Amino acid sequence: MSNYHIKSFEEYFQVYRKSIENPEGFWEEIAEEHFTWRKKWNNVLSWDFTKPEVKWFEGAQLNITENCLDRHLSTRGDKTAILFEPNDPNAPAEHITYKQLHERVCKFANALKSKGIQKGDRVCIYLPMIPELAVSVLACARIGAVHSVVFAGFSATALSTRINDCDAKMVITSDGSYRGTKTIDLKGIVDEALEDCPGVDSVLVAKRINSGIQMKEGRDYWLQSLLDDAYGDCTIEIMNAEDPLFILYTSGSTGMPKGMLHTTAGYMVYSAYTFKNVFDYRENDVYWCTADIGWITGHSYIVYGPLVNGATTVMFEGVPSYPDFGRFWKIVEKHKITQFYTAPTAIRALAKHGTKLVEKHDLSSLKVLGTVGEPINEEAWHWYNENIGKKKSPIVDTWWQTETGGIMITPIPFSTPTKPTYATLPFIGIQPALMDENGNELNDNQVDGRLCIKYPWPSMARTIWGNHQRYKDTYFSAFENMYFTGDGALRDEVGYYRITGRVDDVIIVSGHNLGTAPIEDAINEHQAVAESAIVGFPHDVKGNALYGYVTLKDSGESRDQDNLRKEINQLITDRIGPIAKLDKIQFTNGLPKTRSGKIMRRILRKIAFNEADQLGDISTLLNPEVVDEIITNVI
Ligand code: PRX
Repeated sequence: MSNYHIKSFEEYFQVYRKSIENPEGFWEEIAEEHFTWRKKWNNVLSWDFTKPEVKWFEGAQLNITENCLDRHLSTRGDKTAILFEPNDPNAPAEHITYKQLHERVCKFANALKSKGIQKGDRVCIYLPMIPELAVSVLACARIGAVHSVVFAGFSATALSTRINDCDAKMVITSDGSYRGTKTIDLKGIVDEALEDCPGVDSVLVAKRINSGIQMKEGRDYWLQSLLDDAYGDCTIEIMNAEDPLFILYTSGSTGMPKGMLHTTAGYMVYSAYTFKNVFDYRENDVYWCTADIGWITGHSYIVYGPLVNGATTVMFEGVPSYPDFGRFWKIVEKHKITQFYTAPTAIRALAKHGTKLVEKHDLSSLKVLGTVGEPINEEAWHWYNENIGKKKSPIVDTWWQTETGGIMITPIPFSTPTKPTYATLPFIGIQPALMDENGNELNDNQVDGRLCIKYPWPSMARTIWGNHQRYKDTYFSAFENMYFTGDGALRDEVGYYRITGRVDDVIIVSGHNLGTAPIEDAINEHQAVAESAIVGFPHDVKGNALYGYVTLKDSGESRDQDNLRKEINQLITDRIGPIAKLDKIQFTNGLPKTRSGKIMRRILRKIAFNEADQLGDISTLLNPEVVDEIITNVI
């Protein structure tokens, strides 16, 4: 038997060693024993980071949905696969069994086919957290269509950019969504986006809020009427190991969002294997990840990882604050949640409201707690450990990225001793390296550097859709023969890793990656704005918040500055989405620049951090005089 379920720290070390000494043999054994293949591979791994090109399980054939659904039908057919908790706390939860999910996915897959979707076509999914979102993802995978889920908080412009970039033929959406007490007109956003998307020829619309929306004749179809006509069985499309499974966009420090392409076999093996071990998943557990399927966390650890393992995975439609800040804990009690996986920003927001709402609920079902998306500060870690885990549920602080497809650095619960703010040790098969700025690997402990990965792992993204050169430049050019993560990290005296944050111009706000360039582009669209620069600054709930320095075309003194601030934030909301709004906007007469005209963000960051006394030598700037003015007017 292979080491599919690690149960002690000794075993972790033993399996880790095996996975490093003989990666191909190790992954071959895992793949062979725990997954359903239509044809076995000829070659476990071929790779070349200089191209870069990575192929896992070449020659193998499979369908990931056969692994998520069909193979469970005989043993787990009546077990709940998806447990849907609606926004309305008084509405009943929905238990969708593996049999029912299989049928719903098949019907949906047939509906996609009836609208001309074929293997290789891209389908954009813009849905709230309702079962149709998971079902549509799986339906695409079943017929070999490439899904590209766009988080339903993104604006029409952000949506159309992504649709056009991957050349999607179809959009799947709903008539609207619930968010606490609010409803959101998703179909209206899609309609607006599609004005700029000539390649989309059909839109499937799920009914959720029963709003009276416009349906465009010949383009828009009610999902339900297509499902009513669809057969409840749909044979799988046989996929090659390296066939695309999905594209998911993530922000870069400059330019367009990057469409990270994930392929089939390696992603399946790694997402499933990590799920099993990082959450110590056991057969009757009820696992809940609070992320949205619009992000990678939802792809790997709400949909694919849990379902491949035959787990019960919870989908929550609502928000942590509705009807009150006790909602999460109420759900934990109601469904006897065993694993709870969330973002530090949610923990901080809930901690702010004290422990009264926590104490009202029985949380004794919890076994493992997880965090993801950003560094967790010490205070939040302890609050989580004491009040939610009652000091008996290990916290797995999981570090990974959209690009990595699965969890990379993490404790194994009940095995790895945890340490607040540390993601601890590399997962099985992962070979991290810390590099200095000159490209040398730092081999000792008690060092900090840029975090890289030295060796391929099965679920790594294979390219940026339509722009392989950018993939190479972004991830494989900073350090020779290494994947560069964009993060800084330190390694302590025993080899534990602590992620210190981004070292590029990506800022993580409430666990969401935001590139500075697209936000600045949105601000610069305002007719009064000459130029702008965004930096992050510490925020007690969001981790980081955004600080914008904005230079106006005229001095701006005659303008209503509060109104300008509102207009700028509205532009950002329209172009990207409300998650990218600025917390602070300072109007300046100029931005500090190098003699070659580059904005010195380092200086702006220090000022926003209230560390203006640590600016160092600024005399070589092109315009040192603006710095004093900026410091004087800091918000
Ligand atoms: O900076 C790291 C941070 O989130 C980035 C990846 O963001 P994204 O692609 O949106 O994926 C988030 C969910 C996997 C990383 O480069 N990050 C993620 N997890 C952690 C983290 N920073 C510190 N600690 C973590 N546990």
